[in-house]
Amino acid sequence: NWQRRQNANNNFTATIPYDMELQRKETKEMLDDLTTRDQRMMFGLVTLVHLADSKEQLDSDTETLYSTARKHLCQLSTLRWQQKDGLDTVLPYGLRKIQALRTLTTESTAVLIPFRAQEIMEPNGLYYGQNAVSKNMIVADRRLLLNGNSFRLGVSGSGKSMSAKEEIVQIALSTEDDILILDPESEFGYLTEALGGEVIRISATSDTHINALDMDRAYGDERNPIVSKSEFVLSLFEQLIGDGMVTAKEKSILGRCTEQVYLPYIRNGYKGTPPTLQDFYRLLQMQPEPEAQGLALSSELFITGTLNTFARHTNVDTQARIIAYDIRELGEQLMPLGM
Ligand SMILES: Nc1ncnc2c1ncn2[C@@H]1O[C@H](COP(=O)(O)OP(=O)(O)O)[C@@H](O)[C@H]1O
Ligand SMILES: [Mg+2]
Repeated sequence: NWQRRQNANNNFTATIPYDMELQRKETKEMLDDLTTRDQRMMFGLVTLVHLADSKEQLDSDTETLYSTARKHLCQLSTLRWQQKDGLDTVLPYGLRKIQALRTLTTESTAVLIPFRAQEIMEPNGLYYGQNAVSKNMIVADRRLLLNGNSFRLGVSGSGKSMSAKEEIVQIALSTEDDILILDPESEFGYLTEALGGEVIRISATSDTHINALDMDRAYGDERNPIVSKSEFVLSLFEQLIGDGMVTAKEKSILGRCTEQVYLPYIRNGYKGTPPTLQDFYRLLQMQPEPEAQGLALSSELFITGTLNTFARHTNVDTQARIIAYDIRELGEQLMPLGM
């Protein structure tokens, strides 16, 4: 309008006054916030009441408040002849007697709400603690999250294991979910037994064996189980030989042997005893390529040698609902493979 008026007066070179330019810029920024930054426009009003014993003290406090607010780029204005309305607005009646509202974006409104707290209270959830701000219980169901993983951070002795055990007890008592515990410090055994679960102690010296090639029909989450097992065997040999040291030829041999070693088991409809790494080893030795002999040799210690814990038929019950794998005694050599 201002520009049009200037034009009507034949003042075509008029430049827009600075404060008008500034207003336009602020309006544009606000519109930008609303349209591109997903902000909403809110109406807000902040009223403060301060009291003093004398008028002088009150005025001096007012000045202090003004300058404090200015330091934070805020403008306060004193209510004149409206002090009772101001007081009514501040007191928690839910009345707003001051008819002044300012527009704010979501972002700037949120700054003014100091008691903002995110409550987590999900039906059928587990108790995870107390909300530090609102003091309400935190009840959550991790299974409903996009990613249900959780981890606990804290210094030694701060209660990480304790809180994990609390969660385990709650899951055991209130759901039908499976619980698998990998226990490198041998601390979950008593709890697991108390909950009726199975503790499996694995080490190079114990006579507990877990067959690394165990498989049932559901293995591999709806993918071809052989493909998943091939990947597993490959990663196993990468552990043994060194990451990236397995050549293309060796990979082909490993894939071929994996397929062959499962052939009888799969033909039998996933029934009977699954093959072991020892069967796999014998197959490797039967291959004509010299690379196969090299692979067999490099895996010998873990298959027919002394560290063959994972190369024999499983002789423990891995079907229990709650299982703790106690791997404290596994030792440095077997640990990567065991994990
Ligand atoms: N909520 C709790 N109430 C009482 N004692 C606890 C609690 N949490 C942990 N503790 C005790 O504190 C000690 C260390 O806890 P722990 O869970 O082993 O710590 P971390 O695993 O973090 O090293 C243990 O003796 C445990 O019984
Ligand atoms: Mg611990």
